[in-house]
Amino acid sequence: MEIFPSKNERLNPFPFYTRMRRLNPIAFDDKNQIWGIFNYTYSKEILSNHKIFSSDIHKLLFLQNQVKKNTHEQINHDIKKNVANDTKNIRSSILTLDPPRHRQLRNVILSAFTPNRIYNLNSRIEEVSKKLLNNAIKKGEIDIIGDLAYPLPVTIIAELIGIPYRDHNLFKEWADRLLGANANTTNFLDRKLEPDFKKIQEEMDDYFNKIIQIREKEPKNDLISNLIVSTIDNNRLTTEEILSFCSLLLLAGHVTTVNLIGNTIRSLLENPLQLRKLKKNPSALIPSTIEESLRYRSPVQALFRFLLEDWDFNNYKMSRGQRIVIWLGSANHDEAIFKNPEEFDILRQPNEHIAFGYGIHFCIGSTLARLEGQSVLKQILEQLEDISFMDNYTEGSLKPMHDVFLMGVSNLHIKFKERKK
Ligand code: HEM
Repeated sequence: MEIFPSKNERLNPFPFYTRMRRLNPIAFDDKNQIWGIFNYTYSKEILSNHKIFSSDIHKLLFLQNQVKKNTHEQINHDIKKNVANDTKNIRSSILTLDPPRHRQLRNVILSAFTPNRIYNLNSRIEEVSKKLLNNAIKKGEIDIIGDLAYPLPVTIIAELIGIPYRDHNLFKEWADRLLGANANTTNFLDRKLEPDFKKIQEEMDDYFNKIIQIREKEPKNDLISNLIVSTIDNNRLTTEEILSFCSLLLLAGHVTTVNLIGNTIRSLLENPLQLRKLKKNPSALIPSTIEESLRYRSPVQALFRFLLEDWDFNNYKMSRGQRIVIWLGSANHDEAIFKNPEEFDILRQPNEHIAFGYGIHFCIGSTLARLEGQSVLKQILEQLEDISFMDNYTEGSLKPMHDVFLMGVSNLHIKFKERKK
């Protein structure tokens, strides 16, 4: 049974998810040898059980090799080859580690991402979004993605890490090369990491190494300088660990937030009644609009785990070494939890979506992403009137930015009038 939406469903996988939740909330894909989880309760159950459902790809590689030797499980040869190829160049980051190292490293980074510290960034976030929107207004046309959704998070994360925004083309190129490689792939077996994955990693390492060397001599009040002096049990982080943090934060810090901003505006334009409601009471409703956008079109649609042990999961026999896709995008449309889940409802209460994950890997950047989303929306409502899709807009004219695991469009041109001041 296929557990991936088809290529044509990338911008609207929801009918597929609904079918799966109804008929096969836990499904095994024979072709790709992978489990798919579609409902909310099971998704949370898996994400809270990291002792069985691991994130550590190197353990996966080890297990697959064991399976090769023992051959007691029938994992087909292609998959083994693929996993081996996929993981050999991957350096661990907190995203791909289990406790205890995960917890130790996460604590290091959490000290830099305290909600207080992030809230202090608020005025800078507002300043940047205002400037970006003003520039776009002056141009007379706005592409929500290129003019706002992309440059805002990149500027902020670059400043936090301590790298110059002027290098943003380089960051974009890395992200596109890393994430774009699978954009046209729906068959999981065909899914390969970018062939020059190692090359990109080397390029990023070279870039960050130069900055680390500078900061070692002249520390600043930025994340790189903090990481250099951070310790775990009196030991400094290894250079590898610092490099892996920097690349993870640079990528995680912008790709997903770009989608959050784009998806929010797209959803509001598709639902003019909601937009009208929002305009009547923006300060009260901006936060709940962002929450609803996170639920309705979750920027991260799916997460991966794999089994460290044979496990009976709600009467399904799962085997050690098998992989699992947890469809957050589907869990967040689960009718057992959310009333009228296919409606974009900015007043939704409660709204306990799991767009930022759940359990020990819960997103570290959630406060920052929310603030950035809220800030762009506030600027748009304050400065623009009569926003709508362009006259020639059709749903078919939107292009997905990534593969089925992330949701967002690559451009979103809008019509608008500047609000009289
Ligand atoms: C709307 C924007 C965002 C979404 C939807 C999002 C989503 C997620 C999700 C679903 C996870 C869990 C991964 C897992 O369980 O395997 C995660 C983890 C993470 N996110 Fe985000 N994220 C966003 C923005 C950010 C930003 C702005 C940053 C950094 C500044 C960031 C940094 C991270 C990090 C470092 C992790 C790994 C945490 C861990 O493994 O303990 N994210 N994110």
